[in-house]
Amino acid sequence: MKRIFSGIQPSGGFTLGNYLGAVKNWVALQKDYECIYCIVDLHAITQWQDPQELRANSRLGAATLMAVGIDTRKHIILLQSLVPHHAQLAWVFNCVARVGWMNRMTQFKDKAGKDRESASLGLYAYPSLMAADILLYKATHVPVGEDQKQHVELTRDIAQKFNHDYKVDFFPLTEPLIYGEATRVMSLRDGTKKMSKSDASDYSRINLTDDADTIADKIKKAKTDPHPLPDAPPASDKARAARPEAYNLMGIYAALAETTIDAVAKEHGGKQFSAFKNALTELTVAKLGPVTAEMRRLNADPGAVDAVLREGAERCRTMAEPVLEEVYRIVGFLKP
Ligand code: AMP
Ligand code: TRP
Repeated sequence: MKRIFSGIQPSGGFTLGNYLGAVKNWVALQKDYECIYCIVDLHAITQWQDPQELRANSRLGAATLMAVGIDTRKHIILLQSLVPHHAQLAWVFNCVARVGWMNRMTQFKDKAGKDRESASLGLYAYPSLMAADILLYKATHVPVGEDQKQHVELTRDIAQKFNHDYKVDFFPLTEPLIYGEATRVMSLRDGTKKMSKSDASDYSRINLTDDADTIADKIKKAKTDPHPLPDAPPASDKARAARPEAYNLMGIYAALAETTIDAVAKEHGGKQFSAFKNALTELTVAKLGPVTAEMRRLNADPGAVDAVLREGAERCRTMAEPVLEEVYRIVGFLKP
């Protein structure tokens, strides 16, 4: 059986970008793969988190994955900090990965911003922990949004260097799975910026916790341009860059409706934004409403969510233990 591993940070509630770029695909992949979906709280603290909020967001994250339809009888929802093997393998990978590789990571550059000197050391080593998450379970496929592609490629480099340096054929070379019409959902306020949990403006994103009125208000205020909606998909990157907000809203519509941008352009091309926004609001509310309601119901029952997390951690520890033990043997740690 091919194995999937993917993760999401509990550094806030999930956004529509998380949903369309990653989580929605995670649900679909359950039928063909053995899946582990992880709430990565170790990654979250690479940037300051209020402890109380981090705990609440970790539980909310697990409730959200249950609400979208991850079947925990067959697959696993894992809270990363419950399995210490992730951090242990990450240390070994810190010694395999090269500083030069880390220096090329664009997410570090984005997140650290101008003041790189005061970013945490954890933020810099972040991709090495992510490689440990994936390779601890020898996962072969990693479904993520576009922004994580570079980290999955680095995971391959780490696996390859480990295998080469220790003359073993131990870790598999992992494939990223990036698909759908919204692999990179942009901010509603600025079509050149990624929709993100950490954007200062709540109007830049749709949260899975937003109610119907909030969603309607955010879509109504979303930035557009003065022209009617395009009647074809962007012919080039240049064409997309000329109307980023328009193509972003069309991509969101296509992903939610499970169709293509081409089909959306045929149906709505030439319309005014106001009319298209009404249709988009209706579709978003129809698709997210049931998920939000179920998430709220589950989140109100912390005992049930915590039981799922405890059970997931136990299953993962059983899988992780022999892999870490073998890594320790390979690198030469003494087991007296
Ligand atoms: P994060 O919130 O950074 O932990 O991301 C969790 C998953 O959601 C990853 O697979 C990301 O690639 C994906 N993701 C996050 N933001 C977006 C976005 N704006 N568009 C598409 N995918 C996204
Ligand atoms: N770095 C990913 C993100 O921010 C989250 C993540 C952590 C992850 N570990 C992972 C994704 C392992 C895929 C596989 O989106």
